[in-house]
Amino acid sequence: MKIEEYIKSLPNDIISGDDVQLPEHSFRKIFEFLNLNENDVFYHLGCGDGKGIKIALQEFHVKKAIGVDNNKEKIQQAKKLAEENDLKAGKFLCEDVVTTKIDDATAILFWFTDIEIIEKMKKRFQSLHDGCRIVTIWGPLPECLPAQVDFPYIINQVPFKHADLKEQLLAIFGIKCIDFVTAWEYAERYTKAVAPHNVENDRFLTILQSLIIWINAKNLGITCGDDIPIPIKNYMEILKKFFGIEVEHLLNDTNLKF
Ligand SMILES: C[S@@+](CC[C@H](N)C(=O)[O-])C[C@H]1O[C@@H](n2cnc3c(N)ncnc32)[C@H](O)[C@@H]1O
Repeated sequence: MKIEEYIKSLPNDIISGDDVQLPEHSFRKIFEFLNLNENDVFYHLGCGDGKGIKIALQEFHVKKAIGVDNNKEKIQQAKKLAEENDLKAGKFLCEDVVTTKIDDATAILFWFTDIEIIEKMKKRFQSLHDGCRIVTIWGPLPECLPAQVDFPYIINQVPFKHADLKEQLLAIFGIKCIDFVTAWEYAERYTKAVAPHNVENDRFLTILQSLIIWINAKNLGITCGDDIPIPIKNYMEILKKFFGIEVEHLLNDTNLKF
């Protein structure tokens, strides 16, 4: 089956990202990287059950923490968590991130993959105070040069500096082109950073992710060589033979197919 069919067979709330919640160890890592502190007004956009806000307040002592989510049940859960933990400087809003008020933000966690939301938010982020840090996961904001990178966590800082794809690549991966080893290493880092630990699933996800990274890089013209590296060919074969999932058709260059 083609990878698109495989993805369609997975639960919709997982694929849309709406039911994806970061584990607590990821929040701690992100907040350390952000250097979140008592001077910060912190927003978690898409805050889910509010655990990120709780950690920001209790362990990083931010001045104010605001969680925004458009899911009523999640906001109810978050409010309950705030009450149980007496989080007086915490606030939860059941609103759309695209229209919610964020003017006083100094630090924001923004993990969205929907390109429409990302484009709209980028425009809004641009008018925030100079120095405001926005953490994204996996990629920077479109056409922005990251201020700091601890992959998969990326700090975009206001005012944004413009960057083309190659400049972003250099800032994130520290290299000028993508080979198999880079694709594998970064896929693994991503899985470890945001997923609950499960060795068997992790390996499967890393294979899938590294193939997708390499194929996307190839289609964008930023791989290191013109041919398909042997390990990429092997993993494509493994994916097809043992998991019944095909990815070769994603390559734009039909001459490369084997
Ligand atoms: C990891 S975030 C991102 C999900 C998002 N669909 C994406 O583009 O990847 C997940 C949280 O964001 C919330 N969410 C999704 N869309 C939202 C929106 N437009 N405004 C506020 N919260 C939203 C979900 O209820 C969920 O708790």
